[in-house]
Amino acid sequence: MTMTTDFDSSTLTAAVLDSFEHTPDPRTKQILQSLTRHLHDFVRDIEPSIEEWGAAIDYLTATGQKCDDTRQEFILLSDVLGVSMLVETLNDAETPDATDATVLGPFHVVASPPRDAGDDVSAASDGPRCLVTGRVLTPAGEPIVGATVDVWQADTHGFYDVQQPGIQPLGNGRGLFTTDADGAFRFVSVVPSYYPIPTDGPVGALLNAAQRHPNRPAHIHFIVTAPGFEDLTTHIFVAGSPYLDSDAVFAVKQSLVTTFVTNTSAEDAAANGLQSPFEVADIDLVLQPSPASSASPES
Ligand code: BEZ
Ligand code: FE
Repeated sequence: MTMTTDFDSSTLTAAVLDSFEHTPDPRTKQILQSLTRHLHDFVRDIEPSIEEWGAAIDYLTATGQKCDDTRQEFILLSDVLGVSMLVETLNDAETPDATDATVLGPFHVVASPPRDAGDDVSAASDGPRCLVTGRVLTPAGEPIVGATVDVWQADTHGFYDVQQPGIQPLGNGRGLFTTDADGAFRFVSVVPSYYPIPTDGPVGALLNAAQRHPNRPAHIHFIVTAPGFEDLTTHIFVAGSPYLDSDAVFAVKQSLVTTFVTNTSAEDAAANGLQSPFEVADIDLVLQPSPASSASPES
């Protein structure tokens, strides 16, 4: 039996592990014990002074205090440490036939307004326009009708609506679409710009201390959902954008880099309510069917 007093640095770890031994839920028990092992090993590795550990607590406190309804500093911290992308990558292995997933990021914090096919999601923004067309498909290439396609993006200057209250209305750069009988969706927007992630909080201080740049390559976010399929959270990245090879949050996958092709046809522009020239990105988004729910809950 583990001693319950006078711990040294290794019996202490055993005692904490033991304290979680009777956690009823097996997954919670596994997580708490693994957290204990890794956290104690981390502390043994870095041997923090009392002041350093206090600074670490202050850092996490400041991270929490920076969060509000439209600012999520903990997601940002997870992103710059590569943890968000690690979680994505481990889960991606479960959806091998789907379009690659990538990070959610901290800006999916207001509901996207429902829009009609062809709408301009960035009507309040200036800048060169793009037309984004695509289809939501099964791995066999069949259309998924009635899928929900939630999109959000920064504007030409690299800002999301929530970063510019009073300049951009909430919902600018965002839209919720439903795929048609061909599994197709389409929308107009501004060509997104690369941008720095927010650096005016604890995450910015971390990047600064490490002399890391804060930039993300230009991209558009998507969450695609349909009954009977696994949700897909992903981006398309604009081919040729700066920072494709050094994304601050490690989220670039080559399969998601998309060429925006310049269309110079005045006729095409007029048909889409656009000025010529405009950029066109065409993408297929493939969803993984959910595992068949054959395992009956009673058995
Ligand atoms: C984003 O793409 O919105 C994002 C992702 C991770 C960190 C910051 C921003
Ligand atoms: Fe983004």
